[in-house]
Amino acid sequence: MKKYLVIGNPIEHSLSPKLHNYWLKKNNIEANYDKKKLNENHLKNIISEVKEEKINGINVTVPFKKAVIPFLDELSPEAKETQSVNTIYLQNGTTIGHNTDIAGFELAIKYAKYDVSNKKIFILGAGGVSPSIIYSLKKMKASKIILTNRTKKKAENLKNLFKDIEIIDWGETIDFDMIINATSIGLKNEDALKFDYSANGPNKFFYDVIYNPRETIFLKRAKLFGNRTENGKMMFIYQAHQAFTIWNKLMPEIDDEVINLME
Ligand code: ATR
Repeated sequence: MKKYLVIGNPIEHSLSPKLHNYWLKKNNIEANYDKKKLNENHLKNIISEVKEEKINGINVTVPFKKAVIPFLDELSPEAKETQSVNTIYLQNGTTIGHNTDIAGFELAIKYAKYDVSNKKIFILGAGGVSPSIIYSLKKMKASKIILTNRTKKKAENLKNLFKDIEIIDWGETIDFDMIINATSIGLKNEDALKFDYSANGPNKFFYDVIYNPRETIFLKRAKLFGNRTENGKMMFIYQAHQAFTIWNKLMPEIDDEVINLME
C-alpha cells in the first residue's frame, strides 16, 4: 500500500488528506494519505523515507516550504526560483522538490476568468505562499507587483528573489487592480486586516488565499464596497491536483463533488 503525507506545524486543519484520499478511492488506487505534525529537526529523516520508498510522496506546508530544501537531491525550476517546495517525490532514485502552488494559483485565476495581464497587483504578506504567487503573476504578465509585509525584512528578502517587485510599508495603500491577502490574518473568524476599503474601487478584484473560513472579513468588506471577491479554495484544489498527477500519473477529476467536499 502506497503512503503519502502532508507535513507542517500546525497541521490539524489541513484538508489535503480529505481531498487526496477522496481521489485515491475514486481512482481505485491502493494508498493512504495522512497528515503529520513535526519539527524542523525531523525533516531530514522524513525525506530519507522517500528515498527508501517507505513514503511515496510528501506535501509540505507552513512553515517548512523552504526548510526542506537542503535535504532534497534536486529542485524543479519552479521550486528553485521561489525557494519554496510543497511537493516531494522520487524519480530514478533521486528526491525531487517541486512547487505546485504556482500552477495552483494560475489555474485558480483562470478558473475565476480574471485576466492578470497588464494589471497592477498588490500583495499583502511575505509568508510561505507569497513567492509562488509572485512567480505565477509574473508568468501571467502582470504589469506591476507591489508587496507589503508587517516585517519589512521578509518583504526585502523576497525582493532579492524577484528584483522588479516594489515594496511599501505595512499600513500604506496604493492604487491597484487586484489585491491578494497572502497573510494568515482571517484564518480565525474574528481576525480583521486593517485596511482602507474606500481608498480603491469599486470593481477591483479582492483575492484571499484563505478558504476556511469561506469568506474572511477581508472579502466580506471588499464585497460591501462593491468589489469582486474570490477565496483560495480553487488554488488549494489545483495545487493538490498537480501533486496527485505527479505521484499517481493520472489526472483526477475536479467536479462539483470535489469542490463541495472542501466546504
Ligand atoms: P511564515 O511567515 O512562517 O511563512 P505564513 O503563514 O506563510 O507563515 O505567513 C504568515 C504571513 O502573515 C506573514 O506575512 C506574516 O507577517 P510577518 O512576516 O510580519 O510575521 C503575516 N501575519 C500574520 N499575522 C499577522 C498580523 N497580525 N499582522 C500582520 N501580518 C501578519
